[in-house]
Amino acid sequence: MPKVTIVGAGQTGATTAHWLAERELADLVLVDIVEGMPQGKALDLSQAMPIVESDVRVVGSNDYEATAGSDIIVITAGLPRKPGMSRDDLLEANRAIVQAAVEATLAESPQAILIVLTNPLDAMAYLAMKVGGLPRERVIGQAGILDSARMRSFVALELGVSVQNVYCYVLGGHGDDMVPLVRHSNVAGVPLDRMLSSARLEAIVERTRKGGGEIVGLLKTGSAFYAPSAALAQMVEAILRDRHLVVPASVYLEGEYGQRGIFFGVPVQLGASGLEKVIEYELNDSEREALKASAGRVRETIDALKL
Ligand code: APR
Repeated sequence: MPKVTIVGAGQTGATTAHWLAERELADLVLVDIVEGMPQGKALDLSQAMPIVESDVRVVGSNDYEATAGSDIIVITAGLPRKPGMSRDDLLEANRAIVQAAVEATLAESPQAILIVLTNPLDAMAYLAMKVGGLPRERVIGQAGILDSARMRSFVALELGVSVQNVYCYVLGGHGDDMVPLVRHSNVAGVPLDRMLSSARLEAIVERTRKGGGEIVGLLKTGSAFYAPSAALAQMVEAILRDRHLVVPASVYLEGEYGQRGIFFGVPVQLGASGLEKVIEYELNDSEREALKASAGRVRETIDALKL
C-alpha cells in the first residue's frame, strides 16, 4: 500500500485524510504540533474504515518518525486567514512552519513528492522546493483545481447543468488577481460566452476570484477546507494511480507562459513522477496581459522571502 503523510491535521489536512481513506488509496499519517489531536483524529478515522470498507491504516503523530518511507507529503500546516487578511499576510507566519515541515519530512522520506497547500501558496511551494533542494517535478502547489472548481460550481448552479459538464480553467497566482480563462471554459463543448451574458459571466469571474474570501467572511474563524481538501485528494490520486491527469496547479516555471523562476498556476499533467509536463494554451493579448500582471504579484511575494 502506498503511504501518504499529511502535515497539519487541522480542517484541511484532516478532511484530505477523510477523502483519501475512503478511496482506499494509501496508508495515512497525520502530523500536527497540537498534542493528541492528530492521534485522536487518526483513531476516529481508523474506526470509520470498517464501515466504509476500506483497508487502510491511519496513524497520528506529533513527530516525524512515523512518516518514514512516504510516497507523497501533503503540507497543510500553517495559520489560516482571518476576515480582512489577504493570503500574502500569512507569509512570515507560515514560512517557518513550512520550512520545518519540509526539512523534517524529507529527512524521513527523501524520495517523496511534495504537494503544498499552505498560503501564500505560490511562495510556500517555492520555499518548499528551495529548502528541500528538489527538482521541480517533485513539488506541486494546490490552487488551480480549487479555483477552477469554484467557477465550475457557480456556472453549473447558474445554468442548471451537471457540474460534470462544466469545464473551467483558472490560471495564474492564487490571489485576487488569478486569471479565469473564460475563452477556454465551456459547458459540454459550448463556449461559456455563448451560454451566459457578459454581465453574468463577469459576476461569476469576480465571485470566483473572491471565492476564498467569501468563505473566510462567513466562517469568521477559519478558511475553506472541503473543496481545498478535495483538490488535494485529486492530486494525490493522480500521482499514486499514475493517471497522467491534466489539472491546473502551481509549478515552477522554466520559461513556459513567458515566466521563469516562480511558482505559478498553469495546466499541468500529473503522474507517478509528479509533474510530467506543463501544457501551454494559446492565449490572446488580454489573457497574456492578465497572466503577466498576476505573475508580477507572485514574484513580489516570492522576492519577499529573500531566499
Ligand atoms: N507543524 C505541524 N502542524 C502545524 C504546525 C507545525 N509547525 N504549525 C501549525 N500546525 C497545524 C495547526 O496546529 C493546525 O492544526 O496546522 C493546522 C492547520 O489547520 P487549520 O488551522 O484548521 O487550518 P486549515 O483551514 O486547515 O488551513 C491550513 O491552508 O488555506 C491554507 O492559509 C491556509 O495555511 C493555511 C492552511
